[in-house]
Amino acid sequence: MTGPARVLVLGASGFVGRSVCACLAQRGITVRALTRDTLKARPLQVIPSIEIVAGTPHDDTDLARALDGADAVVNLVGILHQSRREPFEKVHAQLPARLARACHRAGVRRLVHVSALHADSGGPSEYLRSRGRGEEALRAGGAGLAVTVLRPSVIFGRDDSFLNLFAGLVWPLPVVPLAGAGVRFQPVWVEDVAQSVARCLEEARTVGESYDLCGPGVYTLEEIVQFVAGLQGLKRLVVALPDWAAYAQAFVLEHLPGPVMTRDNLASMKAESVCGCPFPAVLGFAPSAMESIVPEYMAAAGLRGRYAQYRRSTGR
Ligand SMILES: NC(=O)c1ccc[n+]([C@@H]2O[C@H](COP(=O)([O-])OP(=O)(O)OC[C@H]3O[C@@H](n4cnc5c(N)ncnc54)[C@H](OP(=O)(O)O)[C@@H]3O)[C@@H](O)[C@H]2O)c1
Repeated sequence: MTGPARVLVLGASGFVGRSVCACLAQRGITVRALTRDTLKARPLQVIPSIEIVAGTPHDDTDLARALDGADAVVNLVGILHQSRREPFEKVHAQLPARLARACHRAGVRRLVHVSALHADSGGPSEYLRSRGRGEEALRAGGAGLAVTVLRPSVIFGRDDSFLNLFAGLVWPLPVVPLAGAGVRFQPVWVEDVAQSVARCLEEARTVGESYDLCGPGVYTLEEIVQFVAGLQGLKRLVVALPDWAAYAQAFVLEHLPGPVMTRDNLASMKAESVCGCPFPAVLGFAPSAMESIVPEYMAAAGLRGRYAQYRRSTGR
């Protein structure tokens, strides 16, 4: 098994990107990170030999510059909420097509594209439909390009915006009104996603394949909320919202700045975030369970948070 020596990572500054860059660098790969915001990418500087390049993947000149000399590219660009300036179509569908064309021009022959579980142009939300169109664009325009698509379920890790969102929510709320309380999820650890990307780059059998990535455990959203509450030593009453109330809650939340939930997110939950098949054997490892990873950092963070709150409340 031999992999590429120089890899360009798009979306490197994000939650998954930081783990992917570190994982690739640990394997002796020279990593180049393209970012629109070099300040946000500063945590990447701790990775030895990483090259951080300022630019946007939506610009052909920036892309060509970033691809120059690379043997492979990893695309981690994605958004959960669209805006007028950055619609899902541009970020999830047009960008992969642009990237495939740029790879052809630059002579880069290998791409690992991170999409999302249940991406489908006929899916229940615009998020999933745009993800599906992005995968289709790669299949259509990827001739001569060796593509692997990874489709993770929700991803957990120290800096995630999933478990941490609920950890922050349960703290002040004795009763948690929860949309999609019974919807099932199969979270996968960020380090396992990073390792999957690295393995795909090394393993020729993954070329032309798509893999769903899930962890070993299936949980309802309510179980997940109770899990993070329990880790903080809290007992919470979860009230499952009926569909109409969940829709109303999402409508209100999506009009707040920096929305935590939108009606489109709610629609995505119609496709339960669970895998229909086991973790891909070709990747050569077994994924880790939430219970073996999260307590180590979340319980300690919960204690620190409560101590800080106690200090504030006593004016210290
Ligand atoms: N986290 C999850 O639970 C989860 C689950 C399934 C799939 N995924 C997918 O996995 C990938 C990585 O997720 P993540 O959690 O690491 O996301 P993230 O933390 O939000 O990072 C996304 C990265 O994409 C880039 N980006 C964001 N909006 C962009 C835009 N409009 N145009 C160009 N670049 C943009 C950003 O790079 P710069 O700002 O540096 O340019 C950022 O580093 C995404 O494709 C995501 O959809 C994530």
